[in-house]
This record gives sequence, C-alpha cells and structure tokens, in this order.
Amino acid sequence: MAKLVDALRDTIRSELGLSIVAEDGGQIIGHVMFTTSLLDAPSRLVEVQVLSPLGVAPEHQGRGVGSALVRHGLAGAAEQGAPLVFLEGDPWYYSRFGLAPGGELGFRKPSLRIPDQAFQVVKLPAFDPWMGGTLVYAEVFWRYDSVGRRDPDTLPSPSDIPRP
Ligand SMILES: CC(C)(COP(=O)(O)OP(=O)(O)OC[C@H]1O[C@@H](n2cnc3c(N)ncnc32)[C@H](O)[C@@H]1OP(=O)(O)O)[C@@H](O)C(=O)NCCC(=O)NCCS
Repeated sequence: MAKLVDALRDTIRSELGLSIVAEDGGQIIGHVMFTTSLLDAPSRLVEVQVLSPLGVAPEHQGRGVGSALVRHGLAGAAEQGAPLVFLEGDPWYYSRFGLAPGGELGFRKPSLRIPDQAFQVVKLPAFDPWMGGTLVYAEVFWRYDSVGRRDPDTLPSPSDIPRP
C-alpha cells in the first residue's frame, strides 16, 4: 500500500489530483487521495478522478474523520474542474456522499472482478451528459495489482490446467 501511495502521489499535478491528510494534535490520523484516470467516452478520452485509498487510523474511526476527508476531497475535485469521481467501495458508506453504482449511470467498470454495486461514481458540476463510457484506471493501479479483489479460490490447480 505504501508503494501504491507513493506512486499515486507522483501522478498528482497542482491543477489535478489531491492528497489530503487529517491531523489531530500534529499526528496524521487519516488520509485520502484523488488521482487521475481516464474515461473512454465515445468522442474522446476524459480525465476523471479516482478516490483511492481512504484510510483512518483505527482508534480514530467512527468520529467523522473519513466523512470529512471524502467531502473535502469531493469539493476540491469539483473546484479543480473534474467531471467525475469514481471509486470502489461499500455503497452503504459512500451513498451518503452522493456516490451511486456506475453501471446504472452509463459507465462500465474497468474489471469484471469489481462487484457492480462497489463500482461507484459521482457526477460533479463539470460533468456533461456525453461523458459516458469505460473507466480506464491509471497504470499505477494495475502495476500494484490494486484493482478489485483477487480471489485465491479461483486459481486453477496444476491438474486443472489443460496440457497440449
Ligand atoms: C472506511 C473508513 C475510512 C471510514 O472512516 P471513519 O472515520 O471511521 O468514518 P466516519 O466516522 O466518517 O463514518 C462512520 C460511518 O461509516 C461506517 N463505516 C465505517 N467503516 C465502514 C466500512 N468499512 N464499511 C462500511 N461502513 C463503514 C460507520 O458505521 C459509520 O456509520 P454511521 O455514520 O451511519 O454511524 C475507515 O473505517 C477505515 O479507514 N477503514 C479501513 C480502510 C478502508 O476500509 N478504507 C475504505 C476502502 S474503500
């Protein structure tokens, strides 16, 4: 995770992307990143934001820190002119911030391993109705195998692999 965060941080430009920390008494207790990926829309590629990762130190969870980070980040992404923010997460938690399952709004997920309900999106003021299509994650997420969840049970056993 630390390597993913470092690699994502390198992609943040002053005008696009965010890395926000929450502090308590000088100690970092929470962090969220918004980084740039692409939406493969019919007319052209569109820069969109992906919220990932989000984390709050266990002893500080349940006090609104995560919510404040998400709300602050979404406001920042809107200010930067991002049209859409995507993420993978629990719809129960993220629906309170206006996120909804992307498949129902005209978007395709970047991996079949992401459950439909976990693939979520929120439209920001810069969104235009032609901006539909497939989310193409930035290469960094693939490099660190951070897309969806791997299911070790689906690995074929050596005897299942057909031999020529
Ligand atoms: C998810 C997480 C960021 C929430 O941060 P937080 O500061 O505890 O969140 P808040 O205090 O703002 O919100 C608390 C609410 O979220 C709910 N919640 C907390 N963790 C949750 C989780 N993993 N899934 C769903 N809901 C969760 C709480 O039940 C609470 O609900 P309520 O407001 O209806 O009572 C934090 O629990 C965390 O860091 N978890 C481990 C890492 C993680 O799962 N990151 C998210 C990846 S998508």
